[in-house]
Amino acid sequence: MDSDFWKQRWQQNQIGFHEGRENNLLSRCIYHLALKPGDRIFVPLCGKAADLDWLVAQGYHVTGIELHQAAVEEVFQRMGLVPQVTRLNGLTRFEAGPIMLFAGDFFELHSNLLGHVDAIYDRAALVALPREMRKAYAEHLMTLTNNAPQLLICFDYDQSQMDGPPFSVSEAEIRELYGNRYKQERAAMVEISGPLSQRCSGNEIAWLLSAD
Ligand SMILES: C[S@@+](CC[C@H](N)C(=O)[O-])C[C@H]1O[C@@H](n2cnc3c(N)ncnc32)[C@H](O)[C@@H]1O
Repeated sequence: MDSDFWKQRWQQNQIGFHEGRENNLLSRCIYHLALKPGDRIFVPLCGKAADLDWLVAQGYHVTGIELHQAAVEEVFQRMGLVPQVTRLNGLTRFEAGPIMLFAGDFFELHSNLLGHVDAIYDRAALVALPREMRKAYAEHLMTLTNNAPQLLICFDYDQSQMDGPPFSVSEAEIRELYGNRYKQERAAMVEISGPLSQRCSGNEIAWLLSAD
């Protein structure tokens, strides 16, 4: 699952992961993060998710990063915002009002560029990556954000039912990845629905990770 894989998915419009509206578990579970208006939430591997608009509408400042620059541009167009664009080493930053999105590789983002964040919202980011990349992703995310609390949405299904992405990430694996810095609570669980339910059966789970 390298950058070429994702660029091809976007170019061929194979973006079944894109939900046309905010994620149901996001709106149900965000209160667990106890954010105040003006707090900053980081959305890694954000795509062009409608979650970004929804988070801005709740009064939060939103920072995201996404490989596919056209997806980033589309978010600003859809929100009717004209971003200031800054080219940085390997990344391009788009900023307007409460939203700042980086186009480029998550692993190239450094904490001095990201700045302080109050929380992380991970939907279809950890589960987008194969097992061998998930440890590096989790480590980098914790370093970047100084272990900010997370709302993490994962799929849990029998991996023999289909190849990922999205991959199944179990409770035990989340503990292995994050357990040395976070305590982990299950905030909500629903059955997998929508197009993914044609390919596998299992659960979509919202985890709350808070610094230990
Ligand atoms: C499954 S999609 C989820 C997108 C979004 N979170 C959503 O809920 O619609 C995963 C996204 O991660 C992006 N991506 C994958 N690897 C990345 C990386 N190393 N850096 C930045 N974005 C990446 C892909 O381009 C894709 O848009």
